[in-house]
Amino acid sequence: MSLLELKGVETFYGASQALFGVSLDVKEGEVVALMGRNGMGKTTTINSILGLAKPRSGSISFAGRQVAGMRPHRIARFGLGLVPEGRRCFPNLTVLENLLAAARGSEWTLEKVVELFPRLGERRDQYANTLSGGEQQMLAIGRALMTNPSLLILDEATEGLAPVIRQDIWAAIRKLKAAGQSILVVDKTLSELLPVADRCFVLEKGVTVFEGTPDRLTPDIQDRYLGV
Ligand SMILES: Nc1ncnc2c1ncn2[C@@H]1O[C@H](COP(=O)(O)OP(=O)(O)OP(=O)(O)O)[C@@H](O)[C@H]1O
Ligand SMILES: [Mg+2]
Repeated sequence: MSLLELKGVETFYGASQALFGVSLDVKEGEVVALMGRNGMGKTTTINSILGLAKPRSGSISFAGRQVAGMRPHRIARFGLGLVPEGRRCFPNLTVLENLLAAARGSEWTLEKVVELFPRLGERRDQYANTLSGGEQQMLAIGRALMTNPSLLILDEATEGLAPVIRQDIWAAIRKLKAAGQSILVVDKTLSELLPVADRCFVLEKGVTVFEGTPDRLTPDIQDRYLGV
């Protein structure tokens, strides 16, 4: 059974339709890549899953429940941990306070987050708005993990970061995968994304146009749907 399953999701912003039929699923323990060029509907798909945008039709089930149309805070409590585009943390809280404010459940602890991202330990008393972009991204991931999500969703978690920081974040994603964490990941760095992904979905203008294992993502398909 899938942990998350979307079927034929259609979502609008006002009168403007962004999703025209998105179907995808994530099984327990899988890392699933959600791909597609700019503006194709990746973030809108994530917003639809989380209840931040309301699907007009289609179904979304998470952990055995129909969640489409529910309020965002309720959906999140079923076990979704989002690292949003633009890495939002509480700017006037310290690293430690940010992490503790997110804590829910018992598996993930401060110690485990700091083990995954030692830099957060070094900066535990620093205010979030004084962190570098990469450190803020680590904090955003740490915050999502502190909620003990059964599904972690990463939306462009490595975008705009220095190469060395990106490496740290990919290494963390690989560790999470090895530990069995289910992850839905949006990222444009295919060279890092494909090796870690169990399956991929590609969106084109709000429609799922490809589903399969990374080895089936041929150069032709990459050119057609992911080329810049
Ligand atoms: N708040 C909004 N109001 C109106 N239209 C929106 C809004 N957010 C997104 N859109 C539109 O919906 C479509 C899908 O956007 P979305 O942000 O989901 O794309 P994306 O695949 O995440 O792109 P990117 O790779 O640039 O992040 C785009 O045409 C975008 O302009
Ligand atoms: Mg986006």
